[in-house]
Formats: sequence, C-alpha cells, structure tokens
Amino acid sequence: MIGLFLRQAWAECAVSLGSRFHFRERKNTRAVRAYCAMTVAEFEGVNARQRWANWRTIPRNLHGRLPERPCRAVDLCSGVGDSTEVLACYLPEGSEILGLEFNPEFVRTARRRTYRDAAGAPVKTRFRAQSVLETFRDASGGRLPDASVDLVNCCGAAAINFDERELDALAAEISRVLRTGGLAAIDAPAHCAGKELMIRRFGRHHFEALGCAQSCFLDRFSQVIFRRDGRRR
Ligand SMILES: C[S@@+](CC[C@H](N)C(=O)[O-])C[C@H]1O[C@@H](n2cnc3c(N)ncnc32)[C@H](O)[C@@H]1O
Repeated sequence: MIGLFLRQAWAECAVSLGSRFHFRERKNTRAVRAYCAMTVAEFEGVNARQRWANWRTIPRNLHGRLPERPCRAVDLCSGVGDSTEVLACYLPEGSEILGLEFNPEFVRTARRRTYRDAAGAPVKTRFRAQSVLETFRDASGGRLPDASVDLVNCCGAAAINFDERELDALAAEISRVLRTGGLAAIDAPAHCAGKELMIRRFGRHHFEALGCAQSCFLDRFSQVIFRRDGRRR
C-alpha cells in the first residue's frame, strides 16, 4: 500500500514537471487538457492508487443493492477502463456497460481490453469519447433515453475535476438517465464536509444517499452511493 502511494507520487511528480498542466484541477477545461497531454503510460502511473481503490470501494457500495437481473450501467470518466473492469466483475450476468471518457486515446485503449464478469464470461462494453458535461450519448451518438439506466458510476473525477456549477450539471444529467430506484456511485472527498456537500448537491436532483465506501482510512477520497427517487421534473 505505501509502495503504491510512493509509486503514484513519483509518477505524478514526473507528469507535473514535464507538463504545463495539472490534472488535479477543479476547472474541468483545465483538467481534461492535462489528461489529454498525458500518454497512456503516464496516465497508468498516475492512476495506480485509483485502480487499487476501485476494487475496494465499488464492490462495497454495490453489494446487496443491485437488482438480480442484467443491468445497464454507465461508467463516467472511464479513463482506460480500470473502473469499467471492476464494474464488469460485480454486475449481474448479462449486464452492459457504456464508458464515457473525454480523451479519445484513453477510449481507444479501453476498447482494446476484454471485460469479464465474476464467472469469467465477457461483458458487453461500449465506449464513447465525449465530455460528461454534455448530454450522455450511446456509442452511436444517440441521446441516452430518460430513466433508462440502472447504475451510473464515477471514480476519480467528481471529487476533483469539476467546480460547483459543473457538478450541478453532472448531477442533473445523471438524474435524467437513471430510472426510479437506480443507483449512482459517485466519488467524493473522504472528509465529512466534502462528503456532506456532495450529498446535499445530489439531494437537489432527487437523490438519497444510502452509504459511503472508502478503500482504506488513509485514502483522501471515498465513493457515495445514492438512490434516485421517483420524482421527475
Ligand atoms: C483519475 S481518472 C479515473 C479513470 C477511471 N474512472 C478509473 O477509475 O480508473 C479521471 C478521468 O476523468 C476523465 N475526465 C475528466 N473530466 C471529464 C469530462 N468532462 N468528460 C469525460 N471525462 C472526463 C479524465 O480524462 C480521466 O480519464
């Protein structure tokens, strides 16, 4: 664990020194510019802690909360597919995942991977390069219908790469695509004030917080799990 933190710190340092851009940016235009300036290998270095944390937070949040039938899931800010891989493993057999990611190079890398469920069977995945601040679309560019998705997941992005106005727009679009009773697992700061802020913000868009998972007590980030209530605008 400590080795992992040190490796990531080193990778982050190398990327920051070699670039004018910093990916830990609350203004999203700057964050995506920084991610687009990275090679896939550099990204894999800076994403090491996130990759490790995903295998702990996602299953803890999904356990006992998913319907016992195939689900439609959307993985926001899916990077090179590390969070998608965890979702594939924990979703019910026959589920489908759509990954939305800004950087087209990361999307190409994610598409080349194979995603497997808990029994080892391939999971149907699609990826699309787009900003999640725009209307969510499927891999062919069609607008995702209202109330059509069972689960929206976001790891390593909501807590750091969006300002308040952007988070509000993101919560509104997640609320639009989720069916009543659908789940949203959204990364948040681990400290109480940051988590409470995220819960209040999503509360304005018809979400009730069900719980929260953290990879370990040292992690500065957590993931809050929300349920979409039945109100529609
Ligand atoms: C820390 S990485 C996490 C990747 C992946 N979720 C994981 O857990 O491995 C954050 C990702 O968010 C993406 N991102 C940031 N802002 C975005 C936006 N507005 N639309 C789509 N992707 C975005 C970045 O390009 C980057 O790949």
